[in-house]
Amino acid sequence: METVNNKKILDAGCGEGYLSRILAKSEAIVTAVDYSLRMIEIAKEKTPNGLLIDYKQGNREDLNFLEDKSFDLIVSNMVIQDLANYEKAFQEMYRLLVDGGCFIFSILHPCFVTPESGWERTKDGKKLHWNVDKYFYEGAYEQRLGDKEQMLFFHRTLTSYINTLIKTGFILESIVEPKPSKVMLKKYPSFEEDFRCADFIVFKLKK
Ligand SMILES: C[S@@+](CC[C@H](N)C(=O)[O-])C[C@H]1O[C@@H](n2cnc3c(N)ncnc32)[C@H](O)[C@@H]1O
Repeated sequence: METVNNKKILDAGCGEGYLSRILAKSEAIVTAVDYSLRMIEIAKEKTPNGLLIDYKQGNREDLNFLEDKSFDLIVSNMVIQDLANYEKAFQEMYRLLVDGGCFIFSILHPCFVTPESGWERTKDGKKLHWNVDKYFYEGAYEQRLGDKEQMLFFHRTLTSYINTLIKTGFILESIVEPKPSKVMLKKYPSFEEDFRCADFIVFKLKK
């Protein structure tokens, strides 16, 4: 198994920083960027003294304050469906990686979470099946995830994602459509429905 020990890692769209902290605890050298200053503040507050993480505010579509080829690994958990210009973000990740470096990112699964998708229910609210529509629409849309408020996302087809990554120069190493583990299921029994279709997809790419 690969270790992150001493690896230079960028957490692009770090949010409150939980992934950055896990990586830093495993002795990676972590830079964490988020567009939201508030999220950076929260991430800093949650980071124990002595755990070194270089937090920076920035737009991951243009991180010109970071030098070419400065990272061995870039991770980006659930950020790219929030970006208007994903092509620019992929080019930026490519620029920032060393040759042979790795880019791992997760997004809402574009085949199942589309501008019009959601549960078909019986009159008394029982979930029958997951509906998918408007798959080939590309652009901004608003959707409520679970019981959260409406959020703005950008939808692209799986073809667009993969072809854009290839055009940028990345080599696709693997994809994962995660399912809940037994431990997670025990903790959150409602995750059982994630065995019915994939909510997320994870890409592992190489420069
Ligand atoms: C769904 S959260 C995920 C946060 C974190 N990666 C995690 O797994 O908890 C998406 C994050 O992406 C950030 N974000 C959105 N657009 C961004 C951009 N253009 N550049 C950098 N960060 C961005 C948001 O501020 C938010 O913190």
